[in-house]
Amino acid sequence: MILMITGTRTGIGKALAEHFLDAGHDVVGCSRKPATLDHPRYRHHQVDLADAGPTRSMFRSVRQEYGHLDALINNAGTSSMNHFMTTPEETSRKIFDINFFAVLNCCREAVKLLRKSSGPSSAILNVSTVAVPWALEGQLAYSASKSAVEQLVRVMSKELSAFNIRVNGIGLPPVHTVLTRTVPRPKIDALVARQAISRQCTTADIVGPVEFLIGRQSEFITGETLFLGGVH
Ligand SMILES: NC(=O)c1ccc[n+]([C@@H]2O[C@H](COP(=O)([O-])OP(=O)(O)OC[C@H]3O[C@@H](n4cnc5c(N)ncnc54)[C@H](OP(=O)(O)O)[C@@H]3O)[C@@H](O)[C@H]2O)c1
Repeated sequence: MILMITGTRTGIGKALAEHFLDAGHDVVGCSRKPATLDHPRYRHHQVDLADAGPTRSMFRSVRQEYGHLDALINNAGTSSMNHFMTTPEETSRKIFDINFFAVLNCCREAVKLLRKSSGPSSAILNVSTVAVPWALEGQLAYSASKSAVEQLVRVMSKELSAFNIRVNGIGLPPVHTVLTRTVPRPKIDALVARQAISRQCTTADIVGPVEFLIGRQSEFITGETLFLGGVH
């Protein structure tokens, strides 16, 4: 498979890239800062996904090098934790730029390459968060942007079914990464205690469900966001 995973410099995106490279696939990744991965089957693009032009150029070079994609994992994301009264509008807009509009742009560009996949279906997978079903305080813009992504999953799954492209989401509870390193431990523990499986999610818990959702075993699944850890 040829996969594109956004946000592969750190955290979940990096763990996913390492997993799929180990499994023998080709991985195209990106981030604003330089790559932290070095592998003969890994290509890194240094791009800010908030900029539509450079994002398009990245997909153009993927087309030139590989001709198609089998899966796109929209993982890159950002958050800011603050009461909405003290969150500047610019911060909320930046969150939407990366978490929603960049996802939309990547999907639009990727569809042209996913349509050329030789498999019976190709897949888009978007990353969401427990902040949506739990409507977490202090995460208004973040959870609203991911809520928009979950709606994108539902609508886009219908709009792309004629092209044999499936669109799903994966909803994650707290994972220890750069994104969450400043969240105080008691706050993380309180969230973990709300999960049916009350231990903290790790990247090892994520790779299996991701592999399932982009792979052949889930060929009849589209328009769903699967939450890990028992969060409902
Ligand atoms: N960690 C959690 O507890 C948790 C829980 C639920 C959902 N999630 C979701 O999981 C996804 C990954 O998060 P993570 O925890 O792994 O965070 P992370 O460690 O901060 O990784 C984010 C990645 O995205 C890249 N990135 C950020 N903004 C970008 C931009 N504008 N253009 C290109 N690349 C960009 C970053 O690289 P650069 O800085 O170099 O750009 C980095 O590689 C996010 O969508 C997040 O919302 C995380």
